[in-house]
Amino acid sequence: MYSELEGRVAVVTGAARGIGRAEALRLARERVRVAVVDLVQEDADETAEEIRQSGGTAEAYSINVMNAQAVMTMMEDAVHRLGPIGILVNNAGITRDNLLFKMSEEDWDAVMGTHLKGSFLCARTAQRYMVEQKWGKIVNTSSTSALGNRGQANYSAAKAGLQGFTRTLAIELGPFNINVNAVAPGFIDTAMTRATAERMGMDPEAFKQAAAKEIPLRRVGVPEDIANVVAFLCSEQASFISGQVLYVRGGPN
Ligand SMILES: NC(=O)c1ccc[n+]([C@@H]2O[C@H](COP(=O)([O-])OP(=O)(O)OC[C@H]3O[C@@H](n4cnc5c(N)ncnc54)[C@H](O)[C@@H]3O)[C@@H](O)[C@H]2O)c1
Repeated sequence: MYSELEGRVAVVTGAARGIGRAEALRLARERVRVAVVDLVQEDADETAEEIRQSGGTAEAYSINVMNAQAVMTMMEDAVHRLGPIGILVNNAGITRDNLLFKMSEEDWDAVMGTHLKGSFLCARTAQRYMVEQKWGKIVNTSSTSALGNRGQANYSAAKAGLQGFTRTLAIELGPFNINVNAVAPGFIDTAMTRATAERMGMDPEAFKQAAAKEIPLRRVGVPEDIANVVAFLCSEQASFISGQVLYVRGGPN
């Protein structure tokens, strides 16, 4: 537990389910006040309600992270209701997998827009509050797919792009006591990986088991595996770590 985070305010995008939900709940356990951001209000409400039920503080927002105005309005409201933003977890993401020759321009733009533009807009808006406080933590979400993955030219490029984005923000924002890092998850059991299994015509359980066999620790990850690392990266114990990409994949790269 890193209770020195008590009272800090976090924005977690894509927090209605999966990894983002686990991150929001994990930060709330550290007494962080959380803005739960996702596309659909009722879905975001569920995570926020779960946090409130366990004694924490949260507000839910339905916005598309690709919309600059919506990002700005959401953060202004979060500052008003929760306090100045000190933590940003850029987690919202989608996949639109296809082999290159079948990949549409829409599939390319949707993936680039969600991961790269979304992370850019959220970071650009949030940094203002972090610079004012001379304290901030930004965690971006890369992926082992950044190293290359068949059928994911768009996603792989976006996730590799986020690594350069992370290093650059670490250089620019470091002088303001803002740490910027990325987590790069491997196979994590979520709706995203279950959808991948279904698209490949595989039973999600069989897909998971096949993936686990290739992982040195012989299991796939769970959202809490990533949430724990994010909580660590936001803690004072990680205060001299910046510009790093931490692979969380049950083995080496
Ligand atoms: N699951 C994995 O194995 C895995 C591996 C590596 C990286 N990741 C990354 O982790 C992150 C979370 O993945 P997950 O598995 O929890 O996925 P998920 O599909 O379960 O959850 C993603 C969430 O992001 C939200 N979202 C998508 N586009 C959005 C937008 N434009 N604006 C706001 N919210 C939006 C979705 O509504 C959803 O709730 C993603 O960035 C993903 O690329 C996942």
